[in-house]
Amino acid sequence: MARTVWDSSVGKKTVMAVSGLIMVLYLVAHMIGNLKIYFGAGEFNHYAHWLRTVGEPFMHYEWTLWLIRVVLVVAVVAHAVSAYQLSRRDINARPSKYVHKKPRASYATRTMRWGGIILGLFIVWHILDLTTGTVHSGGFQEGHPYQNVVDTFSTWYGNVIYIVAMLALGLHIRHGFWSAAQTLGAGRRTRDRALKTVANVLALVLTAGFICVPVGVMTGVVS
Ligand code: HEM
Repeated sequence: MARTVWDSSVGKKTVMAVSGLIMVLYLVAHMIGNLKIYFGAGEFNHYAHWLRTVGEPFMHYEWTLWLIRVVLVVAVVAHAVSAYQLSRRDINARPSKYVHKKPRASYATRTMRWGGIILGLFIVWHILDLTTGTVHSGGFQEGHPYQNVVDTFSTWYGNVIYIVAMLALGLHIRHGFWSAAQTLGAGRRTRDRALKTVANVLALVLTAGFICVPVGVMTGVVS
């Protein structure tokens, strides 16, 4: 049964929709948490510490964080694998006589594919930058994310990488949220208009909310 669902295109689209929505929930929380940077180093670093102790004493130190990490990794892998398989199917299904006459995929589909690749690369860079410190520009200090974030946005390339990725994120969520709603069967004309508005607002709020952080550092409000 599970095999049949996974093999179908609708099954793969459902996996993409559900994993995408899980990631959006995480991003809303992450964006709100990041805005705490405007309340100063004490509050921001305290929040990062809380992320590791949440659920105690029932949960051990960092258990909840690891649980979230596992869910996110499963969501990212499921999303990427089904996207890849759907796009292979799409390309293989095209009659070869059209190959040179028609563009391979619609503008939205191509934007989603490139956006997904950019975001995948960004997530790897971002973890190496602010979680492990491997590619961090300053002297990475574990447990002091405030200073680490200020260091990242004190370099031109840090700002470029993050701002380009956030714009890609906005476009990806705008179209992705809308597609997810269609897949999960929300499509009806009156509701469609409302869903498009929700997709636009969500994309705009997330992009602007995330970009507020580098802008805060660049303008010296956060230092
Ligand atoms: C301006 C934008 C962003 C800033 C300033 C930012 C900041 C941070 C910081 C400071 C951490 C480390 C937290 C800690 O160790 O306590 C972190 C972790 C993380 N961020 Fe972001 N983030 C941004 C955007 C994003 C986006 C767009 C995504 C996803 C597409 C993302 C996904 C993650 C993930 C997966 C982690 C790793 C969590 C972990 O396992 O510890 N971030 N971020």
